[in-house]
Amino acid sequence: MCGIVGYTGINSVGDILLRGLKRLEYRGYDSAGVAIVENDGIYLQKTKGRIRDLDEDEFPYGNVGIGHTRWATHGKPCDENSHPFYDCAGEFAVVHNGIIDNFVTIKEELTKKGHEFTSETDSEVIAHLIEDNYDDDLVATVQKVVTKLKGSYAICVLQKNSHRILIARNQSPLVIGVGVDENLVASDVPALLDYTNEVKYLEDGDVAEICSNEVRIWDSLGNAVERETVEIDWDLEDAEKGGYEHYMLKEIYEQPKAIHDSLLGRLFEFNDVDFKRYDTSFIRIISCGTSYHAALVGKYIIEEIAKIPCTVELASEYRYSSPSDLLPFTILISQSGETADTIVAAKEAKLRGCKTLAITNVINSSITREVNEVIYTQAGPEIGVAATKTFTTQLIVLYLIALELGLNNNKLLREDAQEYRSELRRLPRYVKVLLDRSEQIRKVCKKLVEADDIFFVGRNINYPVALEGALKLKEIAYIHSAGYPAGELKHGPFALLTESTPVVAILVKDHTFEKMLGNIGEIAARGSPIIAVGDHDKELKKLSDELITIPSVPPMFSPILVNVVLQLLAYYTAYELDCSIDKPRNLAKSVTVE
Ligand code: F6R
Repeated sequence: MCGIVGYTGINSVGDILLRGLKRLEYRGYDSAGVAIVENDGIYLQKTKGRIRDLDEDEFPYGNVGIGHTRWATHGKPCDENSHPFYDCAGEFAVVHNGIIDNFVTIKEELTKKGHEFTSETDSEVIAHLIEDNYDDDLVATVQKVVTKLKGSYAICVLQKNSHRILIARNQSPLVIGVGVDENLVASDVPALLDYTNEVKYLEDGDVAEICSNEVRIWDSLGNAVERETVEIDWDLEDAEKGGYEHYMLKEIYEQPKAIHDSLLGRLFEFNDVDFKRYDTSFIRIISCGTSYHAALVGKYIIEEIAKIPCTVELASEYRYSSPSDLLPFTILISQSGETADTIVAAKEAKLRGCKTLAITNVINSSITREVNEVIYTQAGPEIGVAATKTFTTQLIVLYLIALELGLNNNKLLREDAQEYRSELRRLPRYVKVLLDRSEQIRKVCKKLVEADDIFFVGRNINYPVALEGALKLKEIAYIHSAGYPAGELKHGPFALLTESTPVVAILVKDHTFEKMLGNIGEIAARGSPIIAVGDHDKELKKLSDELITIPSVPPMFSPILVNVVLQLLAYYTAYELDCSIDKPRNLAKSVTVE
């Protein structure tokens, strides 16, 4: 989950590397470094800290180089563990994303042969393996070296006195940017968009040689192959902040458009997947983090609209579960499409014989190659580490899937489907209404900033929304918060309620409303401040310290609106506390390690 960028061409490389790295900083940001080919060697500069801590004035002039921004996996963040890495002789420089599972064995073998290591990382072994196997043909050497690596990698290799970059990938993203008299490589598209919008995605096992006017690619068997050149239609502005103070706020405000775009062309005719080709009588959804919360909401949506039983599992747990004879139609949700846990789960589901569908936001992301079918959310690039608009669009896709399945199995009446569609179409407008009330929501944050612990409670379809609200607050405002089904508080967590433990309670007028009111009364009796989010109600207003209402929608669609309120609560609380909102500590945007 680090960022890689590389360039070879006719321009000065230092500035290009820095600019590319800044666009990738969301992928990891505890250290950074660059390597530039100069006169008779390779210049290296690396540092613990942010990209801005690199000293550009010290960079030599050069036309070929590689850069890296790191999120530590093996070895703490420090100068020594930052990339790039040299071999012993300083002939090669290497950057790596991913994890080399067998690095300890490789390191031991190389140490016996006299190699000296300068870091605690798994990545450094790659530079030394290249040195150990080098036989005047760098392409053949890299092809040989990758066969010795177990695990995931995206690798770039520089050699002194050479103007080419050797690259290789396995289970870690790597994209080639095709230019004129220059070519680039990066772990993610935004780093390339300043220079080109034509890209080639490498496949697992590929090795490639990038020169300024030529790109040559070989597959895992060593056969020369062509990879299609794809035009990217995200412009750079899409990937920038557009006047908002943080990407997260921009992305929260983009939700009306994101919902609209995700519905576009799909509301009345859903052609993304022909579900009739599959047995969908039992569904399982697998994902992590915020995508897991979307999956949990999805369970309620699918069971209610399509009347199909649905289970939800965390991707990191699924592979350790016992296989059974039941082969559910398996949906993997991952905004990035690069989450290692979810990709492994997709492979495992396939191995068990399940048909699989990925819901992702990133075109051609790794998960798309592991599944039978793909549905893209149309949220546009999400840069803030905290997932916001992608959660919302994942729900939109789940509504669309449920409608399609319900109509296919005749459990949903056409007129009811029509009603649902009308509601979906209204959602962008309702979200806009909430965004226009952001100042009211901001004021409520004053009740949260002082707290050390906060509970989020809901029932039924809004229980997972409570989980998501708690996750958002802890990840960006660093306040300990826990999501609970409201009925569970009395089974233990009640012991923690005090006058300084705010409770954010979600109450919409569904079949749980009366029970929820009862729960709120119990909480109020313990003196905890109550911030209610949901439908307007006189009794609720009396019981709660604050009531943030949402536009009136059928309860089935309330998660989208309630969640927008919770996103804003988290954002403004983090803002008041002066937290690093777009890059929370210890986190990275896509988690490409298990
Ligand atoms: C939280 C967040 C994470 C991700 C999780 C899965 O705001 O963003 O919890 O949801 O790491 O990521 P994806 O959806 O890319 O698989």
